[in-house]
Amino acid sequence: MHPSTILTLCLTGLAAASPYPRQASNLTNFLLVTTSQCPSTANSSALADVSALSLFDPYYQANYIIRTIGPGYGSLPRFNLTSGDLGSLASGPHGVGTFVYNSTGEVEGGQLMFSKEADEEDGNLALKNGYLLTVDGEEEGWTICGGPLDEEVIYWKGNSTSCTPTYIHAVADAPY
Ligand SMILES: *[C@@H]1O[C@H](CO)[C@@H](O)[C@H](O)[C@H]1NC(C)=O
Ligand SMILES: *[C@@H]1O[C@H](CO)[C@@H](O)[C@H](O)[C@H]1NC(C)=O
Ligand SMILES: *[C@@H]1O[C@H](CO)[C@@H](O)[C@H](O)[C@H]1NC(C)=O
Ligand SMILES: *[C@@H]1O[C@H](CO)[C@@H](O)[C@H](O)[C@H]1NC(C)=O
Ligand SMILES: *[C@@H]1O[C@H](CO)[C@@H](O)[C@H](O)[C@H]1NC(C)=O
Repeated sequence: MHPSTILTLCLTGLAAASPYPRQASNLTNFLLVTTSQCPSTANSSALADVSALSLFDPYYQANYIIRTIGPGYGSLPRFNLTSGDLGSLASGPHGVGTFVYNSTGEVEGGQLMFSKEADEEDGNLALKNGYLLTVDGEEEGWTICGGPLDEEVIYWKGNSTSCTPTYIHAVADAPY
């Protein structure tokens, strides 16, 4: 996917296409996907260039990063958005224990990352129109970039040549 191929048109009027037009702020336990299209669809399978997203800890590090994952995964993480942070239940390092992992706050050029360490500060994430993941109100800036073990991982405004722009949608059902 070439950077110029993301559809930058996402007028607020298209929010009517959201499958969650009225429950926008109540969407819980959602999945996250990347897609090159801004407007939502009722069925996530129909999103352009859709990829499911999964937590990733390639070297058993303390924090999870996020990778795209194709068909054949075992399960997908579900998320809530509270006080500007995404949260997800996940197993601890080496699969020991289960913890709430919260997003760590997005900075330009930084990875979408989750930590189980306490962080009292509100984050800068939101779901615009109930589905479109934003950083400080901006939906454009998410990138899919080359990562560890030849996986594709998510950065906010990743600037390496391997990065391509994407949108991130919250969806109720897996695309595949
Ligand atoms: C959704 O959230 C709004 C505002 O917080 C609340 O008024 C409404 O009752 C909620 N709807 C449902 C279905 O939980
Ligand atoms: C979405 O569409 C796909 C492909 O047409 C279909 O297999 C799937 O059952 C649909 N999912 C839902 C939740 O309707
Ligand atoms: C999200 O919130 C709902 C309702 O409070 C809760 O039942 C669910 O376990 C939470 N999911 C995650 C992944 O934290
Ligand atoms: C890429 O992002 C990093 C992290 O913000 C920054 O240090 C670096 O200067 C950026 N490089 C370019 C070419 O913009
Ligand atoms: C994660 O976020 C939830 C919701 O804001 C909060 O209650 C919890 O204390 C946070 N946990 C950590 C470890 O930061």
